[in-house]
Amino acid sequence: MSIKIAPSVLSADFGRLAEELAMAEQAGAEVLHLDVMDAHFVPNLTFGPMIVKAIRNLTGLKLDAHLMITEPDTYLDAFIEAGADAVDFHLEAFEPSERQQRATAILDRLKEAGVGRGIAVNPDTPVEWVYPYLEQLDSVLIMTVHPGFGGQKLITECLEKISLVKAEAARLGVEISVGVDGGVNLETAAEVAAAGADVLVAGSAIFHAPDPPAVIRGLRSAETAA
Ligand code: DX5
Ligand code: ZN
Repeated sequence: MSIKIAPSVLSADFGRLAEELAMAEQAGAEVLHLDVMDAHFVPNLTFGPMIVKAIRNLTGLKLDAHLMITEPDTYLDAFIEAGADAVDFHLEAFEPSERQQRATAILDRLKEAGVGRGIAVNPDTPVEWVYPYLEQLDSVLIMTVHPGFGGQKLITECLEKISLVKAEAARLGVEISVGVDGGVNLETAAEVAAAGADVLVAGSAIFHAPDPPAVIRGLRSAETAA
């Protein structure tokens, strides 16, 4: 399976969003990564379903909504209606006593809506947290920075979670796509690809570069460089 590149629009120029999205599409990105932050789950505030809908109307790329919000369940339908093709939510958003119930309800609703089901795992969270859900998941998003901001340095220790979760998925006989989010750039991509990532999310490395399409191509070739 060849690696997919998911530009994170967090670092895009929103005043020129249509051009930025067209660039990503023409450069061969497969997915757009949309970082939704609520200033509670993370100390930053970005955008909600209204912008997801606007992006939906601007591009044919698949839209992956990464919900860094304390109530992903409350707002889930709004993101589905806005046109998200996949949703990643965080188990860390829930109190332990209600985690399983709320996560299961989200996964059931996503399945019913035909939307991709993903769980994102913070750097300090053991990847084992997602194991009980693997049979209901399409993807796992390994956070290699503490979520909240673009442009941080990749935490290398998190990469071992990729092979761990893949081994558990194989043991269960389920296929799962594993994405890596945070600090992916032309220097780190080969290591991330070698660790087994299926999807590379990259924000600042792409959108802050003088030649973004060249970075998208370079990230893709990381797989062969690894
Ligand atoms: C961080 C977000 C990332 C972010 C990555 O909270 O989840 O998707 O955009 O940005 P870079 O690629 O700049 O590390
Ligand atoms: Zn993200």
